[in-house]
Amino acid sequence: MNVNMSDKIVVITGGSRGIGKEIVKTFTELGAYVYFTYLSNEEVAKELEASLLSRGLKVQAEKVNNCSLEQVNLFVQKVINEQKRIDILVNNAGYIPRGLFLKTSETVWKKAIDTNLGGVYNYCSTVLKHMVLQKSGNIINISTVSALQPSPGQAAYSASKAAIESLTRTLAMEHGKYNIRVNSIAPGLIQTEIVKSMSQEVKDEVLKKTPLARFGNPQDISDAAVFLASDFSSYITGIQLLVTGGRHLL
Ligand SMILES: NC(=O)c1ccc[n+]([C@@H]2O[C@H](COP(=O)([O-])OP(=O)(O)OC[C@H]3O[C@@H](n4cnc5c(N)ncnc54)[C@H](OP(=O)(O)O)[C@@H]3O)[C@@H](O)[C@H]2O)c1
Repeated sequence: MNVNMSDKIVVITGGSRGIGKEIVKTFTELGAYVYFTYLSNEEVAKELEASLLSRGLKVQAEKVNNCSLEQVNLFVQKVINEQKRIDILVNNAGYIPRGLFLKTSETVWKKAIDTNLGGVYNYCSTVLKHMVLQKSGNIINISTVSALQPSPGQAAYSASKAAIESLTRTLAMEHGKYNIRVNSIAPGLIQTEIVKSMSQEVKDEVLKKTPLARFGNPQDISDAAVFLASDFSSYITGIQLLVTGGRHLL
């Protein structure tokens, strides 16, 4: 795929680590001007920003809590003031709690819904207003295979992400007439910090259920994001792109 994003203004949430970091790196390397957010780990975010700036790439890191509509509004307005438009929004920031349903406290439940679903609401409701005026736009929501195939210990997480899948389809239907595409990427297990925290037993179990017999890596997801953000997918909207190594089949 030969993709040039040099005229694109992109917002990526949760871009300082893991999957989001890879998407930030890839999109800036393709020429995009990327604004990415983080929640608390300023050092890591600023390190990434500095390393990309030192290579002449266009990037800004901003501390913005997904859960705060006020913070999201201020941030989006700043991007619009500086760039006059937003071409691509990648809703990647996420909170991944584990725990059986009866052991999931109300606090954890609400944090999952607020960070995952609430964050997508806050960004989409704010950014879509500008995309409608531009009569163009592209939104990619990072979901999970667990939205399709919930498993024990993931009630809050799966529910919040399944709601994002539903919202993705509705937004695609409501905004196609404005030349705005809205899709989701549903990753399987990806080599990020979450994998490091899992026991060997759980890892083996996941691999047994993955036809391609490996974990995904962040680049598998950023490649899918490039595809959905580019004209190579210009007739695609409202889909859930499963990037799971086939795990969704079992
Ligand atoms: N890793 C996987 O195997 C996997 C599988 C399926 C789906 N996913 C999805 O992919 C996305 C990224 O996952 P990941 O594993 O790469 O995550 P990660 O390594 O935990 O990174 C999360 C990122 O989101 C930021 N963040 C967290 N809460 C936030 C908030 N309230 N507001 C703004 N930023 C926030 C973090 O910033 P700080 O570092 O500053 O806290 C960080 O940049 C998530 O939506 C996740 O559900 C991941």
